[in-house]
Amino acid sequence: MSDHADPLPKDTSWRVPLPVTPPQARQEVEVLGLTFRSPVIPAAGPNVRDGAALARVAENGAGGLLAKTVSVRAAPVPRPNMAQFGRAGMLNTELWTELSLDQWLDREYDVGLAAARAAGIPFIASVGYTADELELVAPKVAAKGVDALEFSIHYVGTSFDAVVDTARALRSVVDLPIIAKLSPHFGDLGELAAVLEPHVDAFTCINSFGPTLAIDIERAEPVLGSRYGYGWLSGEPLRPLAVRSVFEVARRVKKPVIGVGGVSRGEDVIEFLMAGASLVGICTQAIYEGPQVYERVAVEAAHWLDRHGRQSFADVQGAYVRRFGQGQRVLTEKEEAPRLDSALCIGCTRCGVVCQYDAMHAEPWKTPTLVEERCFQCGLCVSACPAGALSFSPRAGRTVAEAA
Ligand SMILES: Cc1cc2nc3c(=O)[nH]c(=O)nc-3n(C[C@H](O)[C@H](O)[C@H](O)COP(=O)(O)O)c2cc1C
Repeated sequence: MSDHADPLPKDTSWRVPLPVTPPQARQEVEVLGLTFRSPVIPAAGPNVRDGAALARVAENGAGGLLAKTVSVRAAPVPRPNMAQFGRAGMLNTELWTELSLDQWLDREYDVGLAAARAAGIPFIASVGYTADELELVAPKVAAKGVDALEFSIHYVGTSFDAVVDTARALRSVVDLPIIAKLSPHFGDLGELAAVLEPHVDAFTCINSFGPTLAIDIERAEPVLGSRYGYGWLSGEPLRPLAVRSVFEVARRVKKPVIGVGGVSRGEDVIEFLMAGASLVGICTQAIYEGPQVYERVAVEAAHWLDRHGRQSFADVQGAYVRRFGQGQRVLTEKEEAPRLDSALCIGCTRCGVVCQYDAMHAEPWKTPTLVEERCFQCGLCVSACPAGALSFSPRAGRTVAEAA
């Protein structure tokens, strides 16, 4: 075989095709008085690094546009500044846009806005960072005709007062919806959102997590080019932290939340909406997959609605917050052990391997058996089963007090 016969890498699982049949459920959502074509939009990053990238995102079916963060000066971005982490995670030290504010004002916003208008979708600009910087940058960006402004709190320390000052500064210089993009290193984002709520119109949850460190052990050198090699974690590993942050914010405030962090499938959109988000943003998966990701994920999410007999995203939005906003009864004893659907079991033995209580016994290609009296009802086999053959209801059982 010639060297050129198979130019693609063997693992092409990152190329996820669009679902073939169009969904029935309504995809449009209204947020901040704006109509988004779907709830799936870009989050700030190299996926929206200039006007041309924004135009590709609009042409590929994103629900709305959101541009890379601009500030008073171009970011001195260290090189290397991005590294894949695990299967679908990333560490980055990209800071904000490497382009000058003048270039954005003279060219990039015009290209991006023209694409947004042609597609009939809203355009959100992202600005940073201190109150003084926002007072300089925001009016110029607003004058381009953007529909809303997101401001990032990533590089303003961790004081709530400093964040409130930046929001106030922004409010005093622009007459547009203002979205606060929250960073997980601030701690309790619900509390921060409650303090910020009078000064902003919406929240984005969350920015990347960190700083973190990865070392190239062959060279005993940092993987990234920042001072100590530190970078910020994004992508799939971030998702549970992002979902929890959206929930914390949504149960404390009334204003809309854009959920961001590790979204790569339609199911992730549903999870974020249930946690209280009204829109979701994608950055890392867009870098790995390309701009078709937004439509693919939106269509998958709408198919999920179809399968569950729902007409629109409003039918699931906030469902988890309403049910569990005050928490759940914590069970210390369950009524039943996991149940196996042997028709679904593929005989892989994973349930037996992961069982730490010697309760699940599995041999290759045979139906596993469970010793019920040993089962601690830890739940791991249920979530680890690759075939979805195990299940139990997490809320059937007794608390310590009830068992006594
Ligand atoms: C390479 C890279 C650059 C980013 N640049 C910005 C930025 O300029 N402004 C910002 O608010 N967030 C920035 N982010 C954070 C993302 O917008 C997003 O909040 C975070 O990565 C989590 O979402 P994800 O898992 O979909 O990537 C960046 C993320 C990455 C990976």
